[in-house]
Parts: sequence; C-alpha cells; structure tokens
Amino acid sequence: MKSRERFLKACDCEPLDRPPVWVMRQAGRHLPEYLALKEKYTFHQMVQTPELAFEVTMQPIRRYRMDAAIVFSDILVIPEAMGQPYEFRDKGGIQMGYRLDTAEDIAKLSSDGIEEKLDYVAQTLKLMRAELGDDHALIGFGGSPWTLATYMVEGGSSKDYHRAKRLFFNDRELFDTLMEKISDALIRYFRIQIAQGVDAVQVFDSWGGVLGPEIFWEASGKWIAKIVNALKDEVRVIVFSKGSHANVEALVRTGAHLQGCDWTKNLADFRRELPANMGVQGNLDPVILETKPEIVRAEALRILEQMRGLNGHVFNLGHGIAPAAKIENMETLIQTVQEFR
Ligand code: CP3
Repeated sequence: MKSRERFLKACDCEPLDRPPVWVMRQAGRHLPEYLALKEKYTFHQMVQTPELAFEVTMQPIRRYRMDAAIVFSDILVIPEAMGQPYEFRDKGGIQMGYRLDTAEDIAKLSSDGIEEKLDYVAQTLKLMRAELGDDHALIGFGGSPWTLATYMVEGGSSKDYHRAKRLFFNDRELFDTLMEKISDALIRYFRIQIAQGVDAVQVFDSWGGVLGPEIFWEASGKWIAKIVNALKDEVRVIVFSKGSHANVEALVRTGAHLQGCDWTKNLADFRRELPANMGVQGNLDPVILETKPEIVRAEALRILEQMRGLNGHVFNLGHGIAPAAKIENMETLIQTVQEFR
C-alpha cells in the first residue's frame, strides 16, 4: 500500500497492518543538509522562496522515506500576513515586531489580501504535490488561534502567558474579537492549502496546555472547533493540543479526525477515551531520539504493541524533533515503524 493511502486510512480510522509515520518538525536543525542551506539563506528566505521551501520539505523525505511530508513554513506566517511580523531572538525564541497592547492594535490587524500574501505557500505546495503524487501524504498546517494569540499579545515567546491570559479574563469581548480575526484568517489560509491538494491540515495548539480545564474550551477549544467545522468536509484535520489530554471532552467537541498526544499520557488509554471515528497521533518523547538505536527501537515497539488492534493511529513524536536528535536514531525509528506488523 502506498504511503498516501495508508495515511488517509489512518485518518479515517480504518484497520491497517502498521501505522503511517512522520515526525513533527522533521525538516530543520537536526539535518546537516538543512544547516548547510541555512549558511546561505535566512529562515524567512527559505520559507518564502517556493523552490527553497520545497527543497527543505523534501530533505527528510529523501533521507528517511517517512510516510508524510509537512510543508516547510511556520505558524507565525499568519500574524505576519495580518501585519505583525516576527523574527528570532539571538538567544532563541520568537520576537514579534510589536505586541498587541490596545483595542486599536487589534482593530488594525487585517487579513485583506491574505491569499496573495501567502501565495508562496501555495506555490511550495504545488511543487510538493507534483513531486509526491500518490506516493506520500502531504500535510499543511497552521497554529491554533490561542497559540498564535500568545505570540501576538505577549510580543514573542513567553514563559508564563500572563498577558494573553489577562486579556482573556479582563476583557472577554476584545479577546473574542482577536480570536474571531485570527480564526477567519486561518480558515482562509487552510483553504489555500486545500486548493493545492494537501491530504490533511494540522492545527498546532502548542500552548493549549497552559490553560486551566475550566477555561480551555472558551480560550482555545471552541476556536479550534470553529475551524474544524468549516473545513472537515474538505480535508482531514489533525489537532495537536500539547499538554491538553485532561481536556479530552473539549478535544472531542472540536470534531477533528485525529488528536495529537504528547508523551505524558499512555497513547492506547487516550485512544480508548475517544470515539471510534477519532484517531490519535503521537506520542514518543522527542528526547528518545537523542539516546541510542536500541532504546529508540524498544520505545517505538512499546507504543506500537500498545496500539495493536486499535484503529486510527499515526505514529509521531509527542512534540517537535530537537536539534540534538541523531540521524541514526531517526533511521531506526522510521524503520522500526515501517517494518512492524
Ligand atoms: O514540521 C515541519 O518540519 C514543518 C516546519 C515547521 C516549523 N515550524 C519550521 C521551523 C512547523 C510545523 C513549525 C510550527 C511552529 N512554529 C510551532 C508549532 C509547533 C511546535 O513545535 O509546537 C511553533 C510554536 C512555532 C514558532 C516557532 N518557530 C518557534 C518557537 C521557533 C524556534 C525559535 C528558536 O530558535 O528558539 C520557530 C523557528 C522554526 N520554525 C525553525 C524551524 C525549522 C527553526 C529555525 C532555524 O533556526 O533554523
């Protein structure tokens, strides 16, 4: 069976002899060929030049032959297209050009012309789809409204998310206005990706887990649900709300095809808490890829055995791969999953 078909069947919770596998942030700093390109081009140049973004997206596929490719881009292209640019801090982390402070700052955000501004993503996906054909699945992505709002309101990466949470508690109307705007921009952005033939889109709710269970739905879940509802008849949707498995009821209400799961929960237990037609993706601890092949193999087999007989499983890490991940460990991981029966 070709990888694309296998991936689609996993999203649809159909039985498979082994799960498809890909790795969050699979293109990037653990690959020498990525670091070589970074010597010549900035991150923004690589994202915004379709030929370069295509090349970077293909790098892990050529090396490891995993089942799915994820387009090389960033969740922060949405705030950027809405008028709030981003850059990288020297010591790591994100710095936004300015932070959202007032109602006027939020009123000024606009998704006018977003299709033109993000056309480079469409062009990259066109190259990808032509290259992959039916052989591999192609995944698009975006941030969740809450996760994007944290960067926008905090003015960059944050340790405590107090400014974003304060906006939620102090001025719900303004918070909702911001979330409406981001959600509408995201729906348009995902449609750009769908038009180029992505097999699934993933909503990265990387900071959903910093919300208390009593506010998770209002602050993050319902905005994800709005996006999923708009798109789910057009494309498969994967929600990855990191650190959120305690909010399983809210996650189910989003209506996504698959729910991501970090490494702090037993994946089979999580699968059993979801409806029959809602699968899971995850949950190997990324640090395992910094150890050695025997450990990678044992940990991957533990998850595979645990999930035996449960439909709706895409093998992945519990969060993005780290720069310190070793090539031989990635090779062992992909091989272990692809040879498993
Ligand atoms: O998965 C893939 O291979 C696709 C590429 C991808 C990138 N960012 C490329 C990237 C994806 C899916 C993302 C999503 C993303 N970006 C998220 C959600 C996923 C997650 O890990 O939770 C978030 C929170 C961001 C924002 C972001 N972009 C951060 C926090 C950073 C790291 C900044 C730092 O140096 O500390 C980035 C930069 C980034 N995005 C890199 C890559 C490969 C590293 C850039 C480099 O230095 O080469």
